[in-house]
Amino acid sequence: MFPVPLLPFLLLLLLLVLAPGSAAAGPGITARTLAPCYSADLSPASGRLVSAVGCTVLLTVPRLRVGRAVSWEYRAGVEQGVILRYAFDRPPSTSRPYENRTRFNETNFSLQMVLRRGDGRLYRLSSEEEATDWFQLYVVEPLSEPEIVGNSSVKAGDDTKLVCNVLRGKADLYWWKKNGKLLLGSDRIQFEDNSTLCIVRVSMRDSGYYACVVRNAVSQNETSFLLHVHHSANVVLPVVLACVVVGCLAGIFVWCRKTEQPFRLCR
Ligand SMILES: *[C@@H]1O[C@H](CO)[C@@H](O)[C@H](O)[C@H]1NC(C)=O
Ligand SMILES: *[C@@H]1O[C@H](CO)[C@@H](O)[C@H](O)[C@H]1NC(C)=O
Ligand SMILES: *[C@@H]1O[C@H](CO)[C@@H](O)[C@H](O)[C@H]1NC(C)=O
Ligand SMILES: *[C@@H]1O[C@H](CO)[C@@H](O)[C@H](O)[C@H]1NC(C)=O
Ligand SMILES: *[C@@H]1O[C@H](CO)[C@@H](O)[C@H](O)[C@H]1NC(C)=O
Repeated sequence: MFPVPLLPFLLLLLLLVLAPGSAAAGPGITARTLAPCYSADLSPASGRLVSAVGCTVLLTVPRLRVGRAVSWEYRAGVEQGVILRYAFDRPPSTSRPYENRTRFNETNFSLQMVLRRGDGRLYRLSSEEEATDWFQLYVVEPLSEPEIVGNSSVKAGDDTKLVCNVLRGKADLYWWKKNGKLLLGSDRIQFEDNSTLCIVRVSMRDSGYYACVVRNAVSQNETSFLLHVHHSANVVLPVVLACVVVGCLAGIFVWCRKTEQPFRLCR
């Protein structure tokens, strides 16, 4: 019936359609972050969503063939569990970690959830008949103001280091500014581990406001630090002056002793 070369191709196609979890995947979840959320993007996404700790996400599902009950489930590695189960005849039963921070819509089965650290997992809605695809949620903590640790008063010619510490959240990107302008690396300006600025042989011109800027998927924050470079002469000059003054006094004293009789200048 079919030309001979077409037969293996048709068999392969049939296998692909029947293979579990590949071509015959379940309906997909759509999710978005609800306002107000000052960090995360609010546009809807399917498959995966990046959101922030403290923000609320809404997971919506397409129409599903349902039996006697539906459940929202999560999966994280090998760990899998039920968030809530709804059997139509009574209010949904919610598992303890999700109590008081989730809201289930009994009409369209959507789920609202206030995010915590650790909610970055896979989610799906299932019934005895059908289940949606797993939806990947990434939950990122907004960055607090970083802290710069270093010596704020440095002698010209010395090396100095400023370390930028992130106190809450995890930064993906660090950069430095000096007096509001992006600081570029050079022989003397070096960045170590991205979070450390090292200035070799500081000069007077290195004085100024240094800012460390940190960023991750949901936030950006910064802090600044005043670096004062003082001249090495600041220490030497008073010593030199003191020596000169002492020397002069000694000289005058000697001179007075010598000329005491004829002139009587020092009385
Ligand atoms: C949820 O709120 C109820 C009533 O306020 C309280 O009894 C319960 O302990 C809360 N559950 C959690 C997990 O915080
Ligand atoms: C549940 O979803 C339906 C349909 O989308 C909507 O009309 C209704 O307002 C929602 N209920 C709640 C409590 O959000
Ligand atoms: C930076 O962090 C502080 C808390 O340390 C926070 O109050 C502020 O809103 C953050 N700034 C931005 C732009 O996120
Ligand atoms: C800061 O640097 C100066 C000289 O560059 C040094 O004398 C002083 O001890 C340093 N202070 C601290 C706290 O490291
Ligand atoms: C520093 O940043 C670069 C690019 O932004 C990145 O490839 C590298 O992994 C970072 N290194 C560390 C130690 O964070």
